[in-house]
Parts: sequence; C-alpha cells; structure tokens
Amino acid sequence: MSGNTSGNSLPLETTIKEYRPGLEGVIACRSSISYVDGQEGLLEYRGINIRELAEHSTFEETAYLLLYNHLPSEREFSQFKMLMARLRILPHLIRDAIEEFPVGMHPMLALQSAISLLQADDYYADDISSPQHNLRRAISLMAKLPTLITTFERYRSSEEPLPPSSKYSHAENFLFMLTGEPPHSLAAKVFDRFLILHAEHSMNASTFVARAIASSNASIYSSISGAVGSLSGILHGGANERVLRMLYSIGHPDNVEEFIEEQLATKNRIMGFGHRVYKVKDPRAHILEEYIPDLVDQLGGEEVKTLYQTARRFEEVAAQKMASRNIHPNVDFYSGIVLEALGIPVDLFTAIFSMARVSGWCAHWLEQIDTNRLFRPSQDYIGDHQRAYVPIENR
Ligand SMILES: CC(C)(COP(=O)(O)OP(=O)(O)OC[C@H]1O[C@@H](n2cnc3c(N)ncnc32)[C@H](O)[C@@H]1OP(=O)(O)O)[C@@H](O)C(=O)NCCC(=O)NCCS
Repeated sequence: MSGNTSGNSLPLETTIKEYRPGLEGVIACRSSISYVDGQEGLLEYRGINIRELAEHSTFEETAYLLLYNHLPSEREFSQFKMLMARLRILPHLIRDAIEEFPVGMHPMLALQSAISLLQADDYYADDISSPQHNLRRAISLMAKLPTLITTFERYRSSEEPLPPSSKYSHAENFLFMLTGEPPHSLAAKVFDRFLILHAEHSMNASTFVARAIASSNASIYSSISGAVGSLSGILHGGANERVLRMLYSIGHPDNVEEFIEEQLATKNRIMGFGHRVYKVKDPRAHILEEYIPDLVDQLGGEEVKTLYQTARRFEEVAAQKMASRNIHPNVDFYSGIVLEALGIPVDLFTAIFSMARVSGWCAHWLEQIDTNRLFRPSQDYIGDHQRAYVPIENR
C-alpha cells in the first residue's frame, strides 16, 4: 500500500495505533505559551519563571505577556490597562439574564452560561478573520469574568451588583465588587499573585478543550465556556473547593493521620494531591504556601489558623505515605486556604481560578486559530460489526 501522503495527513501506514488513556504524553499542539518541567518542578510563561512573575509582575502585565508574547512598554501597558478597565462593564442584557439565574446554581455553571450569553452582545463573533477583533474579544473576556462572577454572587445574596471601578487594578476591583469595601492592601497583593500563578498551565484538560473547540473555528465564547465546564470537574480546578471542605471536615491537625489512612485504605483520591505532569511538589503550591503565614496573621481568624496547621500536618503525613509514589501537593492544596483567608465564599473558588486561567485559555485560542487544523483524533473501536437489525416485536 502506498499510503495517503497528501496535505498534512499522516501516511496510512504511520497512523498512530497506540492507545494512551487520558492522552498521556500525546502531543496535541505546538505552543510557545508556557512550559512545564514536571521532574524539576518548573513552570514558565513565555519563557519567564512564574516565581519572577509572582514577585515582580501584576496579573494585567502577565496577561499581556501571555497574549502578546512580550512584556509591555509603559505606553503599551497603560493603554492595555485602560482598555481592560473599560471593558469590565457588562451589557444590560447579560446583567438582567444573570439576575434570573437560579440562586442554587453552582457559580461555575452560572459562569459557563454567562460566558455563552456574552456572545449575544457580539453579533459578529463567528467571524474570526480579524486578529485585532480577536484580541479585543480576548481582552474583553478577561476583563468581564470578575464582573460576571460578582454579579452572580451579589444577586444570589439578594444584593445589588456593584459597578466596576476603573481606579482599581484587576485584583483590587474584583475584591471591591465582591464586598463593596475598598480592598485591603495585603489581600489585593496576594490575590493578584494568586491570579498570576493560576493564569496558564500548558495542555491541561480545560486548555485542551478550549483548543479543540477553537479548532472547529467556533467563537471564543464557545471555547472559553467549554473550558470553564472542563475546569469545574473535581479532578481539575474543582479540586480547590474540595480541598477546603476536606480540611474543614478533618478539623484539627491531630485528626489528619487517621483521615489519610482511611482514604488510602478505601482507595479514595486525596484532593489537592497528585498531578499528571509534576512528579515533585507543584511550584505554584510552594509559592502560594509562602503567602499564608502573613495572610493568616493579618487577615485570618483562629479558624483559618487551624486550617493552615491542619494543612501543614496533612502535607507531612501525606509525604510519608505517598511521596514514594510521586504523589505530592498540587496548586489546589494551598489555593483554597489563601482564598478562605481572603474571605471568599468556598463555592466561588473554582470560578476565581477561571478568572485567572481565562488569560491562558485566550492565548491558546488565539494560537490555535492562527495555526489551525481541526482536532480530529482517532479511536480504537472495540464494538461489534455486522450485527443484524432485529425488529422491535422480535426482541
Ligand atoms: C490530578 C490527577 C487526576 C492526575 O492523575 P493521573 O495522572 O491521571 O494519575 P492516575 O489517575 O492514573 O493515578 C496514578 C496512581 O496514583 C494514584 N493517585 C493519583 N492521585 C492520587 C490522589 N490524589 N490520592 C490518592 N491516590 C492518587 C491513583 O490512585 C493511581 O494509583 P494506582 O496506580 O494504584 O491505581 C490525580 O492525581 C488526582 O485525582 N488528584 C486529586 C484531584 C486533584 O487534586 N486535582 C487537581 C490537579 S491540579
């Protein structure tokens, strides 16, 4: 057989036959957005180590870096920030629609739905031929996610949503729209770093979803709302909410050992531990953990203090029992404690993760449409062939 070598298709005889559950190790795209070394515990955005970004950058600047592949000049940055601040406002029809959402709806579902609705305000969203319009859509989505989340949160708490304030940074403005209070400087600083550390993480499940949707040339709204759906799962971003509930249910450092033993004996997954790529402790968990003592001292009460002590003990015991299997804390293990100390409702945690990750998703959406080929993997068919159709009266 000569094989089909036309276009970009693989010759038939080189079609990959191996099935990799969970697509482990399969290269799904070429990307210059972020790099993860799971053995060394290294994460870089556009080549810059996240520790440097967390120490010196801001979420807006990091988002700019992810989208444009360079750090902005002062002029570029001030224009970018002005544009983002202007685009925070929601169209009335979206705000009114969110008011009608059921109050018992999980915030991730509300966010996913609200992002889909945003397309109703972008009549030409299906036309993705203009790079300028595509970038503006990406910036608009990044700017609007905090407003979508806080609008839902305030309506479900029977409070009027607060309009965004352009005098605040992205992180400050979110805290302000959530509470109506001017943000505490330490809270705003740590929250900004939290957003930086969650902004991007290569080919994880939700980013894969975003790119797969982009590959059909669907709109950015479809792509990002699909990614939010993927992030909501407890094996992915949904783990941060679960970690916090788990730590509260343990209650005290003295109860940790028994809890872990029981989980492992019953083969339950321990939330906030393990990672497909990292075989060492997640570098984001290392950095986030460093912020907690100050946060707890200045903002957290006794409850958060105990929570943190329980988490420290948890990591110690888990290291004895799981580190030899390369199962270490991931970013979600400490992120919940940070958000709890900031006073954020637990069921908003994953939505807040989305608020950061939307920058990475948008960068991937742009990269995908720029170099696009429709995602159409193969399958290993294990069903029957040539089955006879049996009429219903004979079954
Ligand atoms: C993230 C995760 C899905 C990655 O898993 P993966 O690469 O698909 O690994 P697998 O599910 O194939 O697990 C490999 C082995 O490690 C074990 N394992 C992995 N994570 C574990 C965890 N958190 N607790 C207990 N055991 C775990 C599995 O049970 C499996 O054991 P086995 O070989 O004896 O069956 C997994 O670590 C997990 O479920 N973690 C908890 C959820 C979480 O924190 N998610 C956030 C990720 S950032």
